[in-house]
Amino acid sequence: MKPWPSESCGSDDQEQLVEASPVVISKAKSSVLTASWSSATKGVAVVFLALFALVFFTSVRWIDGVPLALTKSGSAQALESNSPVTLTCGGNKSTCRASTTSRPPSPSLDDVASPSPSSCPDYFRWMHEDLRPWESAGITRELVSGARRFATFRLVILGGRVYVEKYRPAFQTRDVFTLWGILQLVSRYPGRVPDLDLMFNCDDTPVVKSAAYSSSPPPLVFRYCKNDETLDIVFPDWTFWGWSEINLKPWERMTEELKKGNERVKWRKRKPFAYWKGNPWVSDSRRDLIKCNVSKQQDWNARLFAQNWDSEARGGFKNSDMAAQCDYRYKIYVEGRAWSVSQKYILACNSPALFVTTHFHDFFSRGLVPGLHYWPIKEHSKCRSIKFAVDWGNKHQKEAEEMGKAGSRFVQEELKMERVYDYMLHLLIQYAKLLKYKPSIPEKSTELCSESMACPATGVAKKFLMESMVQSTRAAEPCELPPPFEAAELRGMLERKADAIKQVELWEKKG
Ligand SMILES: *[C@@H]1O[C@H](CO)[C@@H](O)[C@H](O)[C@H]1NC(C)=O
Ligand SMILES: *[C@@H]1O[C@H](CO)[C@@H](O)[C@H](O)[C@H]1NC(C)=O
Repeated sequence: MKPWPSESCGSDDQEQLVEASPVVISKAKSSVLTASWSSATKGVAVVFLALFALVFFTSVRWIDGVPLALTKSGSAQALESNSPVTLTCGGNKSTCRASTTSRPPSPSLDDVASPSPSSCPDYFRWMHEDLRPWESAGITRELVSGARRFATFRLVILGGRVYVEKYRPAFQTRDVFTLWGILQLVSRYPGRVPDLDLMFNCDDTPVVKSAAYSSSPPPLVFRYCKNDETLDIVFPDWTFWGWSEINLKPWERMTEELKKGNERVKWRKRKPFAYWKGNPWVSDSRRDLIKCNVSKQQDWNARLFAQNWDSEARGGFKNSDMAAQCDYRYKIYVEGRAWSVSQKYILACNSPALFVTTHFHDFFSRGLVPGLHYWPIKEHSKCRSIKFAVDWGNKHQKEAEEMGKAGSRFVQEELKMERVYDYMLHLLIQYAKLLKYKPSIPEKSTELCSESMACPATGVAKKFLMESMVQSTRAAEPCELPPPFEAAELRGMLERKADAIKQVELWEKKG
């Protein structure tokens, strides 16, 4: 197996995205075990529904946003003033045409009278938390420049033009697709992305430890994930525009395919086990998970597969058919060295996702609720915990099916590309409001535009860049940014999540 470069943790899960080879399922021989659990699980079902109701109704705000966000009328009304975005290759590919990007910024969104846009999903509220450390004192040029040691590149946007100063190579094409995403944001919302100056890191592991900055302002670094001990600012990862090295298509097309794929095998017809495929060698937790695999001696209801990275790579990841991974009733999500980009694909299967205790968050995962969108698995007792979850779900198929659907609905609706762009736009606007200086073009920077990135590209990368290019500007308002959490509200929400997890642990103990 090819060792994975050490800086690339989000990618360690890419194997999971690749289709499993067919596998012979040995018959579960757990009837005795499950029988002894049946009375316990009946109680579980009742409490669980109550828990579900609690979580459901306490997140009404989140629910509220959905139907509105889904209506087509908003975009239809906007169509009149949307204009197509075009890309012309040829001539001097290394220069950006001024005409495409020279529109001056319009007034900030706050000043625009908008026809009651829909509310953004609840997870948007976390961006206020991410920016909180700089909220009162603001962000100085020194603070931004000082974070250079953490950064892969510096991004400056001025008058709608995008400049990048690269400091270090990124793993594969992460930086390319991340920057492409930012260019698409600028095309989609012309004149609305404010002037700004920020440092971005394309590695996986968050670095800005809050404990180290109790008396001085922490450095400001954008990246793909964080944990509770760090102050990195989370931003959508590159896979939303595509991951060319493993043939992972842009998210918009992927969600369509997953939706269709989910119809191939109805949930009840799926194999009644928990499935995982990935690289087990990147973390202790994954090595530990593999011990739960089915064998002659044991059956914890887990069907686990190590990805053969070399052979998949030689095959050009042609088998990367995500929908084909949705033929098990349960899907396991386990972090690698940090968060994993596989989470959204796992959730999209209409099968309950079993999350082995998570420690990292990306920009949307803080909106996921245990017991509603996923089932929590104890990291220090994985096998028992997985067996319990699968047995429970197989006995309570209606509830399990509903959880699978809730997870898929979350990624299909709250995480559709439109919302990803809205998150980026709002975050950049909120960030730019805190800047206490007028950004200037860095000396060693290059101007980027869709032409300069896409025209020279070749192969799969070019295909994905073109496919994920925004087709037209958007005149309609983005979704409306919900306010920051009140301290008590935030505490209450975290407590409810912790309680839901504890409750499942308690049932497990009883079982
Ligand atoms: C393209 O533009 C760049 C920057 O203006 C210039 O240095 C380069 O010589 C041009 N190349 C061609 C082929 O005209
Ligand atoms: C788990 O067990 C199955 C069935 O025996 C086997 O095909 C698979 O390779 C095993 N997975 C790992 C990671 O060893």
